[in-house]
Amino acid sequence: MEKLQQLYEGKAKKVFATDDPNVVIVDYKDDATAFNGLKKGTIVGKGVINNKMSNFMMQKLEKEGIPTHFVEQLSDRETAVKKVTILPLEVIVRNISAGSFAKHYGVKEGIVFDEPTIEFSYKNDDLGDPLLNEYHAVALKLATWDEIALVKEYTFKINAFLKSYMKSIGIDLVDFKIEFGKTADGQIVLADEISPDTCRLWDENTHEKLDKDRFRRDMGNVEDAYQEVMRRLMGE
Ligand code: TMP
Repeated sequence: MEKLQQLYEGKAKKVFATDDPNVVIVDYKDDATAFNGLKKGTIVGKGVINNKMSNFMMQKLEKEGIPTHFVEQLSDRETAVKKVTILPLEVIVRNISAGSFAKHYGVKEGIVFDEPTIEFSYKNDDLGDPLLNEYHAVALKLATWDEIALVKEYTFKINAFLKSYMKSIGIDLVDFKIEFGKTADGQIVLADEISPDTCRLWDENTHEKLDKDRFRRDMGNVEDAYQEVMRRLMGE
């Protein structure tokens, strides 16, 4: 597969065209941002970890019947994925209170919910990714009701799988954000990434944070936390 011109550069990844019109290459960077790009930094080795972890999880999810954009890992930082139009919806699942949920509702972090919650934000940096409900998403033509129903079905299956997988390596899956895309032939697939950038991961015993909150909150040992997740997941 030939890597052609760059199509897009986001905050954490670059996307390149290939000689196949239905396939693009994502190239993961070590750049880290928080608070809609206000805070900037580097997490050394993050691109490699996020690439490998996303691919590992997407391949497992495919086996569970969740369609994903994954095609083939090309190098430590590069992966061929199906070319999709991203649904401009960030889908957030929470199993334990933390982050913006704790802040919005005035509760402490660490409350274990009886059932997972789901919420959507409008993926729009200029507006700061505002929260929205399903009616808003349909009114704004971000997705159809059928697409939203499918996205919710996939999302709860993804949560069930990831939560139990993480538990098996001593990690509580607190919450995460995923994105879906639509392929040229209209299939909805899991896209973007699943990584310590997009999940809150706490050690089940010490409750130590093993995710990007260490960067967001200036807690130190950011690289170590990403490495620790990788070590538990893939022995690397
Ligand atoms: P929140 O508590 O800040 O709303 O974050 C919920 C989850 O979404 C958490 O696992 C981090 C992830 N997330 C992203 O992946 N990208 C973002 O831009 C934000 C704000 C959160």
